[in-house]
Amino acid sequence: MDMTVRPRRLRGSETLRKMVRETRVDPASLIYPMFVMDGVNKVEEISALPGQNRYTVDRMGEELERLNAAGVKSVMLFGIPEHKDEVGSQAYAADGIVQRALRKARELDPELYLITDVCMCEYTSHGHCGVLCGHDVDNDATLELLAKTALSHVEAGADMVAPSDMMDGRIRAIRECLDAHGHTGTPIMSYAVKFASSFYGPFREAAGSAPSFGDRKSYQMDFHNRREALKEAFLDVEEGADIIMVKPAMSYLDLVREVRDAVDLPVAAYSVSGEYAMVKAAAANGWIDEEKIVCEMAVAAFRAGTDIYITYYAKELAKYMREGKLG
Ligand code: PBG
Repeated sequence: MDMTVRPRRLRGSETLRKMVRETRVDPASLIYPMFVMDGVNKVEEISALPGQNRYTVDRMGEELERLNAAGVKSVMLFGIPEHKDEVGSQAYAADGIVQRALRKARELDPELYLITDVCMCEYTSHGHCGVLCGHDVDNDATLELLAKTALSHVEAGADMVAPSDMMDGRIRAIRECLDAHGHTGTPIMSYAVKFASSFYGPFREAAGSAPSFGDRKSYQMDFHNRREALKEAFLDVEEGADIIMVKPAMSYLDLVREVRDAVDLPVAAYSVSGEYAMVKAAAANGWIDEEKIVCEMAVAAFRAGTDIYITYYAKELAKYMREGKLG
């Protein structure tokens, strides 16, 4: 056979495969999403997310120790308040659940990088990501509350804020508010390309944040759209975002690549609750090899161009990376 080009030549041994590998990974890229809730002395398992818990502030140290032992350096906090109301006032209360969790985390582990999800849906009685006007979310009225929430997180010790609400103009509103209060150095990671996705189902059970009527399609993106993803990404770059996120990850890696090629900011991909739950369920049935699938999913996200990977598997992945299981 007359062939000069034989791709198999470079696949002949593990040493050689590793030498020519195009995607290299590092635990420093991982962010762990963590749920904190009001109350005392409680750790609640989240049934739709086996292995994930909700912690009261006095018990969150247990998880922070595990993160530390695993070498995960960043968390993203989600708050579950005891009381919800029409305007989500616990989202921006100085002694709200996330604000208290931030102070506690800072005290327990001064080195841990603290990111907060900025949104209203866990705090509103109707479960929508902003304040309502009739049955619609009032975009501009919500901006002020989001900015207030972000500011209160930063004042309580957040290193970075990550707005996930998908209101128009929120990056500018948050940037202006943080700057006006002297927090010019606090980065914003924008959930810029966030789709109205059924992959968030388990999260909504975890956070009790499912909308009580309707859906999120008037603010989160239609998953049929690709050009619109770039429009959202460019807008947030212009408004002052420091990192652009694509969410979910697994079924949206085409857009991770598009965004990676189009903008020069760091890109984050969020492997959401539904992705985790599917892997757990299939693994529990013995249908897949959990560890190998988790590694493959992560490598695929990095290969697609993400710099940062937000995942409920952060602890496991950090360990697999150190063991060289991802290459
Ligand atoms: C809040 C928020 C959601 C997620 C992250 N931030 C839920 C939603 O938009 O309904 C989903 C995360 C996950 O599914 O893991 N708006």
